[in-house]
Amino acid sequence: MSILPVSALAIERTLHLLAQKKVVALPTETVYGLAGDAFEGEAIALIYNTKKRPIFNPLIAHVSSIDMVEDFADVDARAYNIMRRFWPGPLTLVLPLKPSGSLHKLATAGLDTVAVRQPQGVFSKIIDIYQRPLVAPSANRSGRLSPTTARAVADDLGDSVDLIVDGGPCSIGIESTIIKLGEEHDLLLRPGGLPPEQIELVTGRALKQYDQQDAIQAPGMLRSHYAPRAQLRLNAQDVRPSEALLAFGPTLPNADIAIRSLNLSPDGRLIEAAMHLFDYLKQLDELGVEKIAVQEIPKHGLGLAINDRLARAAAPRSSFGSPDCA
Ligand code: TXA
Ligand code: MG
Repeated sequence: MSILPVSALAIERTLHLLAQKKVVALPTETVYGLAGDAFEGEAIALIYNTKKRPIFNPLIAHVSSIDMVEDFADVDARAYNIMRRFWPGPLTLVLPLKPSGSLHKLATAGLDTVAVRQPQGVFSKIIDIYQRPLVAPSANRSGRLSPTTARAVADDLGDSVDLIVDGGPCSIGIESTIIKLGEEHDLLLRPGGLPPEQIELVTGRALKQYDQQDAIQAPGMLRSHYAPRAQLRLNAQDVRPSEALLAFGPTLPNADIAIRSLNLSPDGRLIEAAMHLFDYLKQLDELGVEKIAVQEIPKHGLGLAINDRLARAAAPRSSFGSPDCA
């Protein structure tokens, strides 16, 4: 496995590996993705295998333009409008799949819909040169924390990936928001890097919150997810003996008893907190503590996605039969 900084050489090596149906870990503004050719079953199978991800859990097809989406999915006027407004960026849309398109069935796990997104930065540039969509789940083993640095990818996937392109820490640090537009209502399938309020401003109507009964709509949204080894104690008002502390905002009165403490954003900024979330959870988990106390985080804007990821990281693992997915 090699790690190369973003450069002409890194792009050339990436294109070469993709053409050989191999996978490459690439940075996006949200999290690092494990990318492969969306038309090639062999490449997609390698992604599932590297992540140990169940194959019923579909992938996001990444594109470099709206035109590229139209080759394999139906884009109506509303979807087009939203893509124009927010792409490239941390927003994924679930659209009807065009059966005539070249996307491989493994990418969509046989569903008649497909999730699409145009990421920012070098990822989009590579798709633009390659001229094919790339499927890419987050570059972590299924059920682990999503990586926001090249080092985190290397720690988790190691030699099972040939190349990691290092674009530095991800600027957003939390996965994309996933929505599905509908005639009656628009569904928020996964809160993420784009606050739902911003989407509602453009569509002019409220997004319907995803709930567990809609599970079939977002196969990867099982409750236990993003699992660190340590247990999380959410909305902590104090620190208890032998806990580490994931703080947010003002320091707790007895914060000094924490084994170690990291503050997501000392002045309470949600953008900064999202950016640090997975990295700080990983760092605290690596101490080998049994519990991590997590200070309360507001539930609006990006806070919705942060609380969603924390709730999944805190969920009991035993209540779900199979390992979780994305
Ligand atoms: O920010 C992101 O979205 C990152 C970067 C790499 O782009 N990708 C990412 O992919 O988070 P992944 O595979 O870890 O999560 C994608 C989620 C999964 O929960 C999956 O079930 C859901 O998208 N999904 C994919 N296709 C779907 C579809 N047709 N309908 C509903 N949900 C879908
Ligand atoms: Mg994931």
